[in-house]
Amino acid sequence: MSIKFNVNGFPYEVHPADYAADITLNTFLREHLHLTATKYMCLEGGCGSCVCAIQRRHPITGDIKTQAVNSCLMLLNTCNDVDIITDEGLGNKSSGYHPIQKRLAKLNGTQCGYCSPGFVMNMYALMEGNGGQVTMSEVEDSFGGNICRCTGYRPILDAMKSFAADSNIEVQADCVDIEDSFELICPRTGQCSSGNCSRKMLQVQDNCHWYWPKTLAELFNALDQVPIGEEYIMVAGNTAHGVYRRPKNIQHYIDVNMVPDLKQHSIESDHLLLGANMSLTEAMQVFQQAASRSGFEYCAQLWKHFNLIANVPVRNNGTLAGNISIKKQHPEFASDVFITFETLDVQVIVHENANTQRVVSLLAYLQDPSPKLVIGAFLLRSYPKDKYLFNTYKILSRAQNVHAYVNAGFLIEWRNIQHRIVASARLCFGNIRPGFVHAQNAEQSLVSRDLYDSATVAQVFGELLTSLQPVEMPPEASPEYREKLACSLFYKFLLGSAPKEVVKERLRSGGQLLERPLSSGKQTFETIPKNYPVTQVVQKLEGLVQCSGEAKYMNDLLTNSNAVHCAFVTAKRVGATIERVDARAALQCKGVVAFYTLQDIPGDNNFNNTTLLSDEPEEIFVAGPVKYYDQPLGVIAALTHDVAVYAATLVQVTYVNSQVKIYTSMKAVLADKAEDRIKIMTTKTEDVSRPMPEAGDVIGRGILELESQYHFTLEPQTTIVVPVEEGLQVFCATQWMDVTQASISRMLKLEANAVQLQVRRVGGAYGAKVTRGNQLACACALVAYKLNRPARFVQTIESMMECNGKRWACRSDYEFQVRANGLIRLLTNNYYEDAGCTLNENVVDFLTRPALPNVYNLTNVNFKVRGTAIRTDAPSSTWCRAPGTAEGIAMTETVLEHIAFACKLDPADARLVNLRPGNKMVQLLPRFLASTEYRKRRDEINLFNAQNRWRKRGLGLSLMEFPVSVNIALCYPATVAIYHADGSVVISHGGIEIGQGLNTKVAQVAAFTLEVPLERVRVESTNTIMGANAFVTANSMASEVVGIAVRKACNTLKQRLKPVKQKLGPKAKWEQVVEAAFNQSISLIATESFKMGDQPNYSVFGLSLSELELDILTGNHLIRRVDILEDAGESLSPNVDVGQVEGAFVMGLGYYLTELLLYDRQTGRILTNRTWNYHPPGAKDIPIDFRIELLQKSPNPVGFLRSKATGEPAFCLAVGVLFAMQHAIQSAREDAGLPREWVRLGAPTTPETVVLSAGSEVHQFALQ
Ligand SMILES: Cc1cc2nc3c(=O)[nH]c(=O)nc-3n(C[C@H](O)[C@H](O)[C@H](O)COP(=O)(O)OP(=O)(O)OC[C@H]3O[C@@H](n4cnc5c(N)ncnc54)[C@H](O)[C@@H]3O)c2cc1C
Ligand code: FES
Ligand code: FES
Repeated sequence: MSIKFNVNGFPYEVHPADYAADITLNTFLREHLHLTATKYMCLEGGCGSCVCAIQRRHPITGDIKTQAVNSCLMLLNTCNDVDIITDEGLGNKSSGYHPIQKRLAKLNGTQCGYCSPGFVMNMYALMEGNGGQVTMSEVEDSFGGNICRCTGYRPILDAMKSFAADSNIEVQADCVDIEDSFELICPRTGQCSSGNCSRKMLQVQDNCHWYWPKTLAELFNALDQVPIGEEYIMVAGNTAHGVYRRPKNIQHYIDVNMVPDLKQHSIESDHLLLGANMSLTEAMQVFQQAASRSGFEYCAQLWKHFNLIANVPVRNNGTLAGNISIKKQHPEFASDVFITFETLDVQVIVHENANTQRVVSLLAYLQDPSPKLVIGAFLLRSYPKDKYLFNTYKILSRAQNVHAYVNAGFLIEWRNIQHRIVASARLCFGNIRPGFVHAQNAEQSLVSRDLYDSATVAQVFGELLTSLQPVEMPPEASPEYREKLACSLFYKFLLGSAPKEVVKERLRSGGQLLERPLSSGKQTFETIPKNYPVTQVVQKLEGLVQCSGEAKYMNDLLTNSNAVHCAFVTAKRVGATIERVDARAALQCKGVVAFYTLQDIPGDNNFNNTTLLSDEPEEIFVAGPVKYYDQPLGVIAALTHDVAVYAATLVQVTYVNSQVKIYTSMKAVLADKAEDRIKIMTTKTEDVSRPMPEAGDVIGRGILELESQYHFTLEPQTTIVVPVEEGLQVFCATQWMDVTQASISRMLKLEANAVQLQVRRVGGAYGAKVTRGNQLACACALVAYKLNRPARFVQTIESMMECNGKRWACRSDYEFQVRANGLIRLLTNNYYEDAGCTLNENVVDFLTRPALPNVYNLTNVNFKVRGTAIRTDAPSSTWCRAPGTAEGIAMTETVLEHIAFACKLDPADARLVNLRPGNKMVQLLPRFLASTEYRKRRDEINLFNAQNRWRKRGLGLSLMEFPVSVNIALCYPATVAIYHADGSVVISHGGIEIGQGLNTKVAQVAAFTLEVPLERVRVESTNTIMGANAFVTANSMASEVVGIAVRKACNTLKQRLKPVKQKLGPKAKWEQVVEAAFNQSISLIATESFKMGDQPNYSVFGLSLSELELDILTGNHLIRRVDILEDAGESLSPNVDVGQVEGAFVMGLGYYLTELLLYDRQTGRILTNRTWNYHPPGAKDIPIDFRIELLQKSPNPVGFLRSKATGEPAFCLAVGVLFAMQHAIQSAREDAGLPREWVRLGAPTTPETVVLSAGSEVHQFALQ
């Protein structure tokens, strides 16, 4: 009994009994075949890092099609007869690279590179699946399930779209080699078994059984073998596990993929039959065919709606019946298959056994309690266009790959189409409350009425409001929003379908959803040839190996089979003390090796051993009262990751003293005036007194609230510890080896030299890995030390979001007094930042305060500031891209915008009048306003807004002076060595390559300084020997400071080589000089270090102008255009810097628009701890027209090689989208007849905020 499949052309035969019953393809590829190009992070189909391609034979047609799948969801035991292709199979350094790998690297599509193999494989499958013929819009549509947190997507989309048949993307000649076969490097062997090997049932590990039926009869045979009381699952794509986790007690797995009856389809004249286990992609293909048939035109809309379900890889494997079964098991699930099918009154063919089938309605199927029912197929009737009107809607919090806020479908049967008289209606809504589907009263009220008659319309909305009654379903959006949205959708349906003459012109655009055109970008910068390769556009050093999956991340490192996997056990009662921890059940779990707590730590129970802004120890494991929900209290070690994670949930904890008041938000602390939690941090500025009001003065006040943000690194927090001769070798995804080393050695009472770290690269950091990863690193080291065997700790997304600190949330209470022209006479800003449970990594006075004046003339005469840190019962907050600075700039920019609003000035004018004399912005702003045609576009937008009631546009300007504080940096060592054998150069330094292009930049610097070609320079792993005592890689400064150290080392070497060179004469080649120096016993290795004072502080200037369009009825937006002008000095590496600007800005878009963290305020438990409910921007959330300019002819006089940092600043410019929103919303409010008032918009401003701020009420939903 075996499963046979090919991986990259090589045949494999595995015996399921040797593996866990639910082993995924991902685990098998990575842990058993050691094919680590395929990554993972979320393990739920939400990030795309695990995507690979498969080719599977269709059980009816025999066709083999290539498609992308999520290897984290696909179960190995469903891979029989499947060809699996991973990034390794596409290309590598010895066999040559695949065109997609090359193109992505060439067009600058990687930064940390962790997401890159997933993007490559998704694109490969798309091309293969379509015979190499795809359009740009298909390409752009296909990456909804691939998250990249670094690049901002633009270069990735450019690279991928360059393969499209209709591509207009410019590709350099050396990159076009796609005569362009998409051949695999390992040709298929043809040994894939033909599908007739008959496997019936197999008992695998853990007393579980697998069945592979080939007919319905065999399927029921398998079901018959499931004893009463035992749980079973029919496995199709196994993607439901990405929504609701499969229960642990399943003992029977029945693979339904090879049952032809469940995969069939037919298009008849009066109905469509869709086999239950057709994938959503296959169903969409049928919709496409059927849409051209009379009576099935509605299938075009079904296609559109299904195109918004999940993402391409999930749709490729996920099936119709699987989706409907989720709905049956979880009535609250906002299923799109269900809502569209129920609107169409789709019937279900249900089998109770192999011989009996019945046809029932969907609702009847959902309520049918009979056990072991099998859905055979779905029947879709024809709905002739002249008799029916149909549409469906799905409103999402970002463009793709999110379940609906509310979904809806409407089907009207006409009695008399000329007079628009309704015969019957089906109005279905999802995500309102469990069990609610049809708005029955509204359906009935339409019968025999003119659908567009004003009285009918008013009545139907009245009925809707009475019947909807949404309930609280955290973390779903508020009932108030979901109710408005549901009504809006029906209103949209009316506006969109009504004849022109019955709808007022201004209202018409409300009838359509926002349609996003193809996106594009433009990048402008200068290069300075005399400094090449510095300032030259070069390919990122590790770009190719990242795209091919050869680049190694911590979790890709092999350990011997003795290794254990770790998971945190956490405390759930904030404020209480732990009385007893009972791990017996966990320890009895098969595969569990050990459980350790505080008592097992020999030394310091502190994972944050730094003195930089961190005075308080941070517990590795709870020692006293529990500080926050899910604070780690111990660590489980087990033979597999899954077992460790599961066993951790079995540990029982009892608590005492749990009756303390807890504070899980700043608001609660401030409301209660809980003094012991409030710490004023900024120096007092009491001498600033309020000026006497003068005629024409305008006074205003407001509040800005910026919530926290999760870093969302694609590479999880990861540490691997291997015991070695005298200590521990630690492979840790950290931004700061020194503190990780110190924390581990002090915890274990080892000398620091016994704890050696090595870091090749980090797959995304943004601050998350400055210190937060150390808790896991310490726990992992403890396990390895205690067990004296290798330990691996990769945190799950849930655990990362629950246990780890995030961005400091911020609130500003501001007040201004200004002259009529906006000139600030007094601005007071009382701001508060949420520290979490310690004041460590404090940004309040260190980073926020210096950023506050921004580019404005705010002095100690007119600016009064008080910054306060608030301690809450949450994980200790940490740095997150542009920490503190982003908030500081956002506060001041918001005030400027508010001043303009209060004075009825153009926001640009309010800014111009307040600029600090002599500030660079005095020149930059007028130039930027002209180049972006600011004034003209504002007028056009105002005109558009006057003409459209439900569509509004806005323009938002933001300015930035970003202080780069290098004067905190202590030490960054770098070693440069030249090999006498051939003159090649290698660098090892104390910085960490986190995707910011540090290695590329320092290689450019070395090549420039030593005057060797860039290709001769390599950058090696960093470690705690070459990089001993190195300071943190953060604060945007590492590229420069490490560059300084590298340049020093190169200069040292150059000095040593100088006399040799002089002696050999000017014609001597580099290799000859090096060899001669070697023969003279001259050392060809130099170590130097950056030291404090080597680089002064300076500012980075930037401007952005964001234009967006809002759908006032849904709250959705399109970012139509963004212009950014940023001063990067003389950019060391323009590709890298443009990438940093784009990526930082898009991360800022997530902060301001889509990323919402929600907590249970009673317990402190986070409610948004997965990709299912936390939503960083995707590929279609970026600006449609994205223009980046690096300021030219602007050398930084104090900068390293006249450059400036780029990693973080552009994040701050994203605040402009809030101002564009304000502009648009104000117009909607005016139309709604509301008084002119400033609207409080903060981070994030979600569609819910937009709808609830825009002032529209359901009673305004009229057609005239
Ligand atoms: C990241 C992600 C995003 C998603 N987004 C959306 C979304 O926006 N909208 C939406 O509607 N859905 C969404 N989904 C859900 C997705 O559509 C379903 O996961 C998928 O359709 C399930 O199909 P499957 O074949 O993988 O089911 P499986 O996971 O294989 O099985 C699920 C259940 O179906 C049962 N089952 C399977 N076949 C049959 C049958 N023939 N008869 C009876 N029972 C059967 C199984 O016993 C099992 O209990 C999303 C899923 C993911 C992972
Ligand atoms: S790991 Fe598979 S999608 Fe995230
Ligand atoms: S490059 Fe995409 S996540 Fe880092």
